[in-house]
Amino acid sequence: MKQKETIFPIAIGTYGLGASRSESWTVDNREVIVNEQEMNALLYSYGNGQNYLETSYIYAGGQTMKFIAEFLKRVDRNKLFITVKIENFVEKREDIENQLDQYLKILGIEYADSILLHTPKVSKIPLEDSYGELQRLVEIGKSRNISASNLNIEQLKMITETLNINLFSFEGLYNLECKQNEDVGILDYCKKHNILFVNYQPFRRNRTANHNYPLLINLAEKYKKTQNQILLNYYVKEKNIIPITKANKPEHIKQNLAAFDFTMEQEDYQQLNEFRCEAFDKLEVDWLDNGGIPIYKFANQVE
Ligand SMILES: NC(=O)c1ccc[n+]([C@@H]2O[C@H](COP(=O)([O-])OP(=O)(O)OC[C@H]3O[C@@H](n4cnc5c(N)ncnc54)[C@H](OP(=O)(O)O)[C@@H]3O)[C@@H](O)[C@H]2O)c1
Repeated sequence: MKQKETIFPIAIGTYGLGASRSESWTVDNREVIVNEQEMNALLYSYGNGQNYLETSYIYAGGQTMKFIAEFLKRVDRNKLFITVKIENFVEKREDIENQLDQYLKILGIEYADSILLHTPKVSKIPLEDSYGELQRLVEIGKSRNISASNLNIEQLKMITETLNINLFSFEGLYNLECKQNEDVGILDYCKKHNILFVNYQPFRRNRTANHNYPLLINLAEKYKKTQNQILLNYYVKEKNIIPITKANKPEHIKQNLAAFDFTMEQEDYQQLNEFRCEAFDKLEVDWLDNGGIPIYKFANQVE
């Protein structure tokens, strides 16, 4: 079984792979057309050791998952840590197993390395029961671990301390401008309980760099790196978290892989720690996901 220490410091995001970016949540029956450039980019990430990959069957109407199935035919599946996401069609416990079975069938794999609920809201049954079902799926060998995503701190504590589940990872929003998961204690909690915090939207889909914040410009000049490399270095070396980014362009992947061959001075990490974005700080996360801005939509609220 893969240990947390063997996970490469940048995870492979798959949102939008296998098709042009699509916001469609409807899974369709189209065959995937493999774009070889995109495939080569993914193979390049894999060849350079990136081994944590997460996906969802709803990405690009199912095209992303079919694309990953093609990718898996070309690599050693055992070198990868594959996390699959349960989506919002859960009305009874069996729906979770049915979704996992579909993943295993379409991806052509015998087990998932980890399984998580995309958000607590994807399941209409109580969270305790959903996680109880995930435990059962681990017991019968269909998944090796359980992870979580987009929980609030109370839900995270309940799963860890009441259900006694040893989560492998927690996928949550964290980037220079959106530190809300840190503000409510989730980053610290994960660190204390040895749960890998995997931060999604680490570049806020490149909008952070497009702001040209003086701090990032100065650090990029000082260390002769790009703004995105400064961000990745900060997440990994200072925050000890695993950024998950989708990068299709070989030059982006190369830049991302070259983000760790330097260490910044502590005072520079400190400035990044102290950075706050007023536009985001004015907004409030709806941690119960009851009609306000849920954490998984938070990063897209500001340009
Ligand atoms: N659990 C959840 O709720 C959740 C939510 C959101 C996302 N996720 C996962 O997290 C992954 C990452 O999030 P994301 O894809 O939305 O956002 P992101 O990683 O912040 O941004 C991806 C964008 O950044 C570009 N990029 C990558 N490396 C770059 C570099 N070095 N320089 C300039 N641009 C660069 C990519 O361009 P190219 O592709 O053209 O290289 C792509 O357009 C997703 O793919 C998904 O797997 C999970």
